[in-house]
Amino acid sequence: MAVHYGVIGCGMMGQEHLRNLALLPDAEVVAIFEPDAVMRARAAEVAPNARMVGSAAELLAIEAIDCLLIASPNHFHLGQLEEIAAIRPLPVLVEKPLFTNAADIARIEILREKYPAPIWVAMEYRYMPPVARLIAEAEAATGGIRMLTIREHRFPFLKKVGDWNRFNDQTGGTMVEKCCHFFDLMRLILKSDPVRIMASGGQAVNHADERYDGLQPDIWDHGYAIVDFASGARAMLELCMFAEGSRYQEEISAVGPLGKIECKVPGPGRFWPEHLGAPPVAKVIVSPREPQGPRAVDIPVDPTLLDAGDHNGSTFYQHQRFLRAVRGNGPVEVTVDDGRWAVLMGLAAQQSSQTGQAVKFPMAQL
Ligand SMILES: NC(=O)c1ccc[n+]([C@@H]2O[C@H](COP(=O)([O-])OP(=O)(O)OC[C@H]3O[C@@H](n4cnc5c(N)ncnc54)[C@H](O)[C@@H]3O)[C@@H](O)[C@H]2O)c1
Repeated sequence: MAVHYGVIGCGMMGQEHLRNLALLPDAEVVAIFEPDAVMRARAAEVAPNARMVGSAAELLAIEAIDCLLIASPNHFHLGQLEEIAAIRPLPVLVEKPLFTNAADIARIEILREKYPAPIWVAMEYRYMPPVARLIAEAEAATGGIRMLTIREHRFPFLKKVGDWNRFNDQTGGTMVEKCCHFFDLMRLILKSDPVRIMASGGQAVNHADERYDGLQPDIWDHGYAIVDFASGARAMLELCMFAEGSRYQEEISAVGPLGKIECKVPGPGRFWPEHLGAPPVAKVIVSPREPQGPRAVDIPVDPTLLDAGDHNGSTFYQHQRFLRAVRGNGPVEVTVDDGRWAVLMGLAAQQSSQTGQAVKFPMAQL
């Protein structure tokens, strides 16, 4: 029998979820709460059978719903999880970031301890086929990763409903909003937790001429972060959001005593200029030290999945696995604890950039 979803917040990302759920034979979206009329109409085109409701509470009153998806703006995630916990704690897939403010950590702990059903934090990058391949082969290719580098060079933040993504107090800051994905990947790939972060970031190019109610956006568009892990491994993040001219959007490399493995991941196909021909295909490259000789393989993604979203098919694969967890047939792969760590690392990177000091974990002020 199909699993019935209720969706809370259905803008750009919510609609990507809808398109991917439509490709899954055992999933059906039965109701959507989306406050914006334009987005509501777009969502209705993608999921014509879904009932549109006026609040999260109204959605939770629909008996047929088996699980929930939260794809509202960042600063609503935690409050909506608490509302769901109080009314009807169903299994929930909540978009990243789990929360936006260090002061809310105690509320996250309560959810972690008390929520009686699966909470899965959406971390799509884990499920991109080239990234998944790198993760699967990293140990054999490197002999144990000592250095991990993640570079994202991409387009500026897109326009959002109510321009919520232009301000740090609504997103948590770029190191949280954007980079929580990469901090999550670091922990996943290195199988270790961070002990220290140093970062430098800021706003150099984007959004400087924009004003919203007279206010200039304070969201950052570039930065570096260096992370020391308990295992002794080191990781580095490089983010640049004025680099959409790049062939690849994400480039990850992991190096250890035996060699190096890399992956190169293109950005959304819809942004690739037509006159340049077909969009680039993802690659994984293994470069042993002995015998030397890099070996590159293409990792093509099913074109139907590429068309269904901006994330290399990952939204589809993540729902497949979330559905297994909802049915009790698989684990929650991205837990509240994973979501908590990803945000804490982002907040620490914001703080380090602002103070010029390294931040140690556990963070002193929490
Ligand atoms: N995992 C990923 O790769 C990825 C990619 C993009 C966005 N996201 C996340 O998805 C979420 C939505 O981002 P988006 O890009 O779709 O933004 P968006 O602005 O396009 O969509 C957000 C929608 O939520 C609606 N909304 C506003 N207040 C709400 C409320 N109180 N309750 C319910 N809905 C409300 C808005 O009307 C809007 O349609 C964000 O948390 C973002 O960080 C994740």
